[in-house]
Amino acid sequence: MSIFDSYRCPFSGSKLSLGKDEENGKGSKEFNQILFSQNKIYKYKIIEDIPHFVTKEDLQDSDLDALRYYEKEANVYDKYLPLTFSTFGANELEIRKQLVDLLKIKKSDRILEIGCGTGRDTELISEQLGSEGNLFAQDLSPSMLNLTVSRLANSEKKIHFAVANASFLPFPDNFFDSIYHFGGLNTFSDIPRTFNEISRVTKSGGRVVIGDESMPLWLRNTEFGKILMNSNPHYKFQIPFEHLPITARDVCLRWIIGNVFYVFDFTIGDGSPKADLDFKIPGKRGGSHRTRYFGNLEGVELETKKLAYQAQLKSGKSMSEWLTDVVRNAANDELTNEK
Ligand SMILES: C[S@@+](CC[C@H](N)C(=O)[O-])C[C@H]1O[C@@H](n2cnc3c(N)ncnc32)[C@H](O)[C@@H]1O
Repeated sequence: MSIFDSYRCPFSGSKLSLGKDEENGKGSKEFNQILFSQNKIYKYKIIEDIPHFVTKEDLQDSDLDALRYYEKEANVYDKYLPLTFSTFGANELEIRKQLVDLLKIKKSDRILEIGCGTGRDTELISEQLGSEGNLFAQDLSPSMLNLTVSRLANSEKKIHFAVANASFLPFPDNFFDSIYHFGGLNTFSDIPRTFNEISRVTKSGGRVVIGDESMPLWLRNTEFGKILMNSNPHYKFQIPFEHLPITARDVCLRWIIGNVFYVFDFTIGDGSPKADLDFKIPGKRGGSHRTRYFGNLEGVELETKKLAYQAQLKSGKSMSEWLTDVVRNAANDELTNEK
């Protein structure tokens, strides 16, 4: 089985087949291997064993901007990135190790790192995996990803690289034990879709660690906050609480590196959190959470409502039971009379 069998078409979700690119096959060694979607509408180049699931035409504006930016800045990224940590007197290695520890990696895990950049965390994640584990590292920018490839060139761990967009992950459902991302989320063009994709490709019980810049609300109006937001507009991004997937459980949020970065860690569960929406709520009103939400009828005249309360009191039933009986009987009568 080839590692390419692990991938799926990011747009159709279909399995992919390995083939030769008819257009570029002649004379070009670089581009002659491709992956086809089942319907053959989508095809993806494999360049030096790395599948490329991104084409500029498919990208929305902010992803295109990010791609252009990181393609241009890849060669100086590692030179300037440490300043982000040293500005706040933070130890980059210690912090990255603490974040990776939140994944609770087991040696045989299959892990995805999204937006791995130049591999500063990829290396730390790979160190925690055993020879049976698998790390998939992906990034939108081929130049950034190539720096991760170089950084890990001597690693003996199973690391698989792909150029891909976080909002269209090229993997099957329930494929990973955990997912990691740090530093790029704010500019992803479709953050809700990214979280849905993360939820889709992670097994139930799997761990997710994800974070980026955001000046906390309590610091935004301070001199500290204003000076930093002036220098780096990325600190103005808001934490994307509302886009976390419905499957997120035991969600923890922390602020790190001078409090100007947030990190979520959570576990993926099945569907929505569990709740008994049908238990009978004791008391005068009665009903259940579900009937109170779905069972509302049109409003009645106020006089009728007063009468209803008197009648309900007299009946000894909860309002929900009394109304259900009254409405059912009236509806049955009406329908029977019709016949
Ligand atoms: C600030 S860098 C962080 C790199 C690395 N995670 C780190 O902590 O050093 C952001 C990375 O996200 C990548 N990126 C941006 N948009 C992306 C997207 N839509 N999908 C995947 N990666 C993306 C960029 O190419 C870049 O490598």
